[in-house]
Amino acid sequence: MKKRILSGITPSGDQLHIGNYFGAVAPQIKLQDTHETYYFVADLHALTTVHDRMQLEKNITGVVLDYLALGLDPSKCVFFRQSDVAEHAQLAIVLANYISYGQMKRMHAYKDKLQTGASEESINMGLFNYPILMAADILLYKPYGIPVGEDQRQHIELARDIAESFNKTYHTTTFPLPEPLISKEVGRIVGTDGERKMSKSLGNIIGIFDDEKLIEKQIMGSYTDPLRLKATDPGRVEGNPIFLYHDLMNDNKEEVEELKKRYREGTVGDVEVKQKLVAAHMHKFGPAREKRAELASKMELVRQILSEGAKKAKEIAQVTLAEVYNTVGENGLK
Ligand code: ADP
Ligand code: TRP
Repeated sequence: MKKRILSGITPSGDQLHIGNYFGAVAPQIKLQDTHETYYFVADLHALTTVHDRMQLEKNITGVVLDYLALGLDPSKCVFFRQSDVAEHAQLAIVLANYISYGQMKRMHAYKDKLQTGASEESINMGLFNYPILMAADILLYKPYGIPVGEDQRQHIELARDIAESFNKTYHTTTFPLPEPLISKEVGRIVGTDGERKMSKSLGNIIGIFDDEKLIEKQIMGSYTDPLRLKATDPGRVEGNPIFLYHDLMNDNKEEVEELKKRYREGTVGDVEVKQKLVAAHMHKFGPAREKRAELASKMELVRQILSEGAKKAKEIAQVTLAEVYNTVGENGLK
C-alpha cells in the first residue's frame, strides 16, 4: 500500500515564487508518482491576512493555476480547496481543547507578529489559532508525511503534540504522528537580499509566472558577492545567491560550471551571470508559463478538478470526524 502524503498552501498572495517551488511544490509534485497524495489550497488560513473578497478569489485562482501548471496531476493526486471540506473547521474546534494557551503563545507566526510591533490587542484570533486549524488539516487525513519548507516545521510539531495529547486523553491511537518532510538543501531558499528566507512579504522574491521584465528586474537586483567591485576581481561562488539560483534553475550544468570558474577567476561580470540566469529561468519555466496561460482560459475544467478533489477528500474527512466525535462523546444521542 502506498503511504499517504498531505500538504497545503495558503493563498496569501496570487502567485508562487521560486522559494515556494523548490522548497515545497517540486517535492510535493514528485511524491504524486510514488505516494497517495492530498494537496489543498488553504483558503481559510488566508483569512488571517486577506480581508478583501475579490483579492481572496484572485489569490485562490492564482495558486490553483500555478500548481496545475507546475505539474500537479489531478489523475494522480487529490487536489481541493480547504473550505469545500467543512470537516477541517469542525475538527479544529474539537482539537483546540487538547493544547494549552501557553503553548500557542510560543508559536512563531504569533511571536513574529508581536515582534513587528503589532500589539497583542490587534492580533486577530485567526492568526493565533492558525496552527490549530493546520493541525486539523493534517490529522483529518492521518497522513504519514507532510512535505513543506523549513518555516512550517514548528506547525507540524504542534500537530504532533495535539495528536499525542488527544490519543493520551482517550487512551486511543486515533491519530498517527505525522512526519515533517523537509529538505536540508532546499527547505529554506535565501531571498534576493542574500540574507533572509525568500518570502513574498519581504519583497525579496523571484517570481515564476510574472512578466519576463519583472523577473529580469528581480534577478538583476539580486545580492551577489559584496566584496567584488569590478568584473576583474575574483568572486565568491559559495553562499552567493545568484549561483544557488543557477544550481536550482539552470538545466545547462556545463554553463553553470563555466560561469562559476570564470567568476572565481574574475573573468565574468555580474551582469552576464545574471542575464544567463534570466535565460535559464525562461527555459526552465517556459513550458509551465505556457501551460498556465492555457489553463487560465479553461476555468470550468479547473473548477471541476477542485470539486472532484473535494468529494474524494470529504470521504476520508467524514470518517475521521465521526471517529473523533465518537471518541469524545459527541454522538451520545444518535
Ligand atoms: P511566503 O513566505 O512567501 O508567504 P508561504 O508561507 O506561503 O510563503 O509558503 C508556502 C510553502 O512554501 C510552505 O511549504 C513553505 O514552507 C514553503 N516556502 C516558503 N518560502 C520558502 C523558502 N524561501 N524556501 C523554501 N521553502 C519555502
Ligand atoms: N501553513 C502552510 C503555509 O503557509 C499552509 C498549510 C495549511 C499547510 N494547512 C496545512 C501545510 C497542512 C501543510 C499541512 O503554506
